[in-house]
Amino acid sequence: MLRSATIRWGTMFGALAMVPVLLAQQPTKASTEAVLRIQTDKWIAKVSPTLYGLMTEEINHSYDGGIYAELVRNRAFQDNPNRPEHWRIVRDGNSRASMQLDKSAGPSAAVSSSLKLTVERADAADPAGIANNGYWGIPLQANTTYAGSFYAKADNDATGPLTMSLVSNNTGSMVATASVPSLTSEWKQYKVMLQTAQITPSESNHLVLSVTRPGAVWFSLVSLFPPTYKNTANGNRIDLMKKLAAMHPVFLRLPGGNFLEGDHIQDWYGWKKTIGPLVDRPTHPSPWGYRSSDGLGLLEFLEWCQDLHMQPVLAVYAGYSLKHEHVNPGPDLDPYVQSALDEIQYVMGSSDTKWGAVRAKDGHPAPFPLTYVEVGNEDWFDTSGSYDARFAQFFDAIKKAYPRLQLIATTPVKSRIPDVLDDHFYRTAEQFFQDTHHYDKTDRSGPKIFVGEWATREGSPTPDMGAALADAAWMTGIERNSDIVIMSSYAPLFINVNPGASQWVPDLIGYDAVDSYGSPSYYAQVMFSNHLGNEVLDSSLTGAPPLLFYSVTRDTVKQTLYLKVVNASSRPQLLDIQLIGKDQPTGTATITTLSGHSMEETNSLGNPARIVPVKSTSTRISSDLHRVFPAYSIEVIEVHLR
Ligand code: AHR
Repeated sequence: MLRSATIRWGTMFGALAMVPVLLAQQPTKASTEAVLRIQTDKWIAKVSPTLYGLMTEEINHSYDGGIYAELVRNRAFQDNPNRPEHWRIVRDGNSRASMQLDKSAGPSAAVSSSLKLTVERADAADPAGIANNGYWGIPLQANTTYAGSFYAKADNDATGPLTMSLVSNNTGSMVATASVPSLTSEWKQYKVMLQTAQITPSESNHLVLSVTRPGAVWFSLVSLFPPTYKNTANGNRIDLMKKLAAMHPVFLRLPGGNFLEGDHIQDWYGWKKTIGPLVDRPTHPSPWGYRSSDGLGLLEFLEWCQDLHMQPVLAVYAGYSLKHEHVNPGPDLDPYVQSALDEIQYVMGSSDTKWGAVRAKDGHPAPFPLTYVEVGNEDWFDTSGSYDARFAQFFDAIKKAYPRLQLIATTPVKSRIPDVLDDHFYRTAEQFFQDTHHYDKTDRSGPKIFVGEWATREGSPTPDMGAALADAAWMTGIERNSDIVIMSSYAPLFINVNPGASQWVPDLIGYDAVDSYGSPSYYAQVMFSNHLGNEVLDSSLTGAPPLLFYSVTRDTVKQTLYLKVVNASSRPQLLDIQLIGKDQPTGTATITTLSGHSMEETNSLGNPARIVPVKSTSTRISSDLHRVFPAYSIEVIEVHLR
């Protein structure tokens, strides 16, 4: 039956979407009509409320030069033991000065390095100092206050004033400046506020610390923060947090991936070195080729969870590091098991426990909720076969102390029955299209499944429309099986798109120092996560071509049905949607469409809104709907039931 079209206009994500929307359209000859029958009042599986979350690790400058808002690079002079990377000497006019990495002088045992500035000649007209070029620039906005700080000591107490300035690379002029009157011969932290005027936003700036008198000055832990999400000190970048918030993620797997393990055993994620004052954090080498500042440490991860209403999925180091090194199960592993127990207590223990008290001292008296703990990461790489026994040792100790915690194994084990298994899939679009039924036959009596890392690896630096289609097709299978697949998270999440900043493509969200954008895959995640439902409905599809995928759920609280249809074909697809059962559609339907002109089309920093969801409504709905799904499209149709 054909219906007349009702046309509405919709907007989403701030972009005006001038697209007419037809819920019931004139069928075209583009394809033969397929039939989707949905039993609106009969569910076949419950949807996991924790299905969509985030996986995160320090890769591609995800934290330093990414979501962690610090703007000074190599702030503690520990990135390279041989030279002060990202710093240069400043010698204005006739001033004479030199700089040197000093590995014997630092403000603390953890931060034991500094940069020594030796000034032979300088005055108010011709100051001398040091400059930092940030993470591919220092982004500055108009009329904004920046929080600067540094540790310093001088060879005599008369040294001063000391000025921190933000300088435009392009004009050489000072954009903001602030001074402290004098330094002492003891290490001390100094704080200044720097205010920009009506400037054009740009990342082409650098930071300068300068003096106007001869003498020696040592600097360390030099820091500059812009305003952060929720104005949290030592906090996160606002645009990236907003993008994550739009995904409505339920959990954060932290600190996921190889970052947990390190290349060598001594490089594992020693969480105790990532808490407390920044001056007590020694930084550590990450397996992705650069050192982690650990400014975004364990407590900051947990506060990130709190800010976005996510629960942490805590990954604990389990004694395997990437260069095929493992800790033998038994007494050798005991310290790592104890570290995991301490870490869990830091997260969820009350403030009268040993590590809960440390968390309270660090500024967060209230415990964080914790349900899932993951033991290791991708331990199938451990060809020694030690994981079975290592897992058992962690399992027994954690279950004894915290019987209610759910433990995740990273590969199947025989020694114990894990509560959850973590599966990872990095695939081509074709592989995902072929495997959307992956979990249909999974044994429901075994462990639950966490698809802790997955992505269609097509497009660079971020996924293209073809990847988004394959991701969405895969997610229809995940949703349909979310009685057993209780959690899933795309990976990696972030990429700094500057040359040399990344180690892995593609990644969900791209950025430079100033701007960020979501890939088509990002918007697919937003659409799926925002229309989850709590029951999978009984349904059947007949007459469909191979590249048509769907998932249908309902939300029993909102009395709403969500139909997600992925048409990965180059042709529009006609679908007759029959809503059968006592719960019938009522009111208007909302349609969210993400579509491209080709598999290759994509978003970028220069064109962030080429492919974005378009929202529209239709008032003409009934129990028999005919719709043409555009070529290369992902759609969510939201219908109220009565
Ligand atoms: O997400 C990138 C990497 O892929 C992760 O660090 C690792 O767990 C996986 O192999």
